[in-house]
Amino acid sequence: MPLSQEFRDELLLRCDIVDVVSKTVNLKKRGSNYWGLCPFHNEKTPSFSVSADKQIFKCFGCGEGGNVISFVMKSENLTYIEAVRSLAEQYGMSMPDDQTEDAKKAALERDELLSINRQAAKFYFESLAGENGKQALEYLLNRGLTKQTIQSFGLGWGGSGWDGLALEMRKRGVDPEKLVRLGLVRRGRNGGYYDTFRQRIIFPIIDTRGRVVAFGGRIIDGDGAKYINSQDTPLFNKSQNLFAANFAKKSKRDYWILAEGYMDVIALHQAGFDCAVASLGTSLTQEQAKLISQHVEKVIISYDSDNAGMIAAKRAIDILKRSELQVRVLHVPDGKDPDEFLKKNGAEAFQKVLKDTMSDTDYILSEIMAQNDVKTDDGKIAFLSRAVPVVAAISNAVEKEIYTKKIAGIAGISVSAVESEIKIAEKKTDRKNNRAIQNKARSPVSVLQSSGRKERYKNPTSAFCEEKLICLFLTDNDLLKKYKDRISSEDFSSQTLARIFDSVLRHSENSDVVNAAMIMEDLSEQDARHFVDIMSDSERSMDAEKEVLTCMEKILFEHSKSAGVDDRLLAEAIQKKRNRTQGG
Ligand code: CTP
Ligand code: MN
Repeated sequence: MPLSQEFRDELLLRCDIVDVVSKTVNLKKRGSNYWGLCPFHNEKTPSFSVSADKQIFKCFGCGEGGNVISFVMKSENLTYIEAVRSLAEQYGMSMPDDQTEDAKKAALERDELLSINRQAAKFYFESLAGENGKQALEYLLNRGLTKQTIQSFGLGWGGSGWDGLALEMRKRGVDPEKLVRLGLVRRGRNGGYYDTFRQRIIFPIIDTRGRVVAFGGRIIDGDGAKYINSQDTPLFNKSQNLFAANFAKKSKRDYWILAEGYMDVIALHQAGFDCAVASLGTSLTQEQAKLISQHVEKVIISYDSDNAGMIAAKRAIDILKRSELQVRVLHVPDGKDPDEFLKKNGAEAFQKVLKDTMSDTDYILSEIMAQNDVKTDDGKIAFLSRAVPVVAAISNAVEKEIYTKKIAGIAGISVSAVESEIKIAEKKTDRKNNRAIQNKARSPVSVLQSSGRKERYKNPTSAFCEEKLICLFLTDNDLLKKYKDRISSEDFSSQTLARIFDSVLRHSENSDVVNAAMIMEDLSEQDARHFVDIMSDSERSMDAEKEVLTCMEKILFEHSKSAGVDDRLLAEAIQKKRNRTQGG
């Protein structure tokens, strides 16, 4: 534990988990908790809950749970110390200097790698302007980019030779193995190093904090993949970044445009659409959708109008909607992709297309229509069987009615017939979702012995009260102070609960406020999981003090009973021994 308990308690008191989670998850208050779609697994109905009182989260769908620190670790893919640092920054606390040597070293190394990337970007940029970058520069200008665009995106040239960057960095004393880790150079068979991005146009990938984290490279002639991208490195995870997000973040528009390619994005920015981004050589991921939803509520998909683009768009719709984004789809009428369209028709024409986007539902319905001939009976049936679930999934009632009428019209069927089909489809999905929640039934027995919990309670009666007492003490710290001396963890029947209770007592020695989030910090992963389960099952009680007294009484009674059994066994054993010695 590199950080003191004092520091961690203070941090957890200052942070508000609801506040932190809200930045990435859309939360709605229901009862005493906040609910939203779980960011750690895919779901359509919210089973992810956050408690403001307890300062913990728990997903009843996938079982993930923890405090604000574990939430940040998991959702932003950070180490423990990085998550604490990020929270400390947000909540105006300075980190104590008692960082471990390891953490210090890791931070230094990160800085060094970032500096190498920055130097590489500069090297590429300068080589585009230099003698051997002539052909590349001409290529870019020919494709309609202005010098200013080239400069603001920091585009570059990977050099005409094989190892320009490797040599230059060697001169500067940079360890070539670090370049390998960044994916900038590769080790050759003869032991030398050669440049990954040689003879390619360079697209630096800059994260929303303005750091050069990776590169893309496009070939301009010769063989090889048209584009290559940096592999995942300690600085870069391609599924979590979007090209040009650093610019889009500053855009005044209230939506982002999601395009497929680097060149599309650059052309869009040059035409004034400064909110365009693209995923990086992969299809859109949930993390990328989340990144968008952190900045805007609306997104316009502007993929290529070929078949691959349409399939990708349909996939993207699902992913974006899971992050609660409003989605519209833009159809580029002329030319394959936005870049080509802009080149042929200009920015104003694109602005018109932008006004004429389709809703996600319209887009999907038009797809289904294109695949079925609704003039024939078979076609109508096939169309409806795919269209009905789409409409059934719409949550907004007005929208649902509009589309019900629409698909009835398309298929030439009465609205009431379509309505009853939709009702059936809704029941099916409802049943599925409810079953999932009911499986995590909250009946005491299944809660007490649920499969997620590692320890099987020897004495469920006592354990139930031990759980309850812990919850009561944590929700009402006055009761904790008043009664904590009347019971000890040795009276507990469960080892796990005893460890948790000890932690509660320890924190209450040093801090006026003790909450669940603080306790989690002391527990092993397994204990922490168990603890979150207990806490999230607990409800506010009407008469907490009375319950505390009842629980303590039961625990002590059960303890004395078990002690009684031990004594009796002991007595029996002694008696037996006596008998034997007397007999022999
Ligand atoms: N891509 C990739 N590797 C490839 C081909 C494509 O990573 N071999 C990614 C790139 O991010 C590219 C995007 O997929 O920008 C879209 O591909 P494509 O439509 O072929 O490229 P454009 O961006 O249209 O490129 P250009 O206009 O330069 O041909
Ligand atoms: Mn293109």
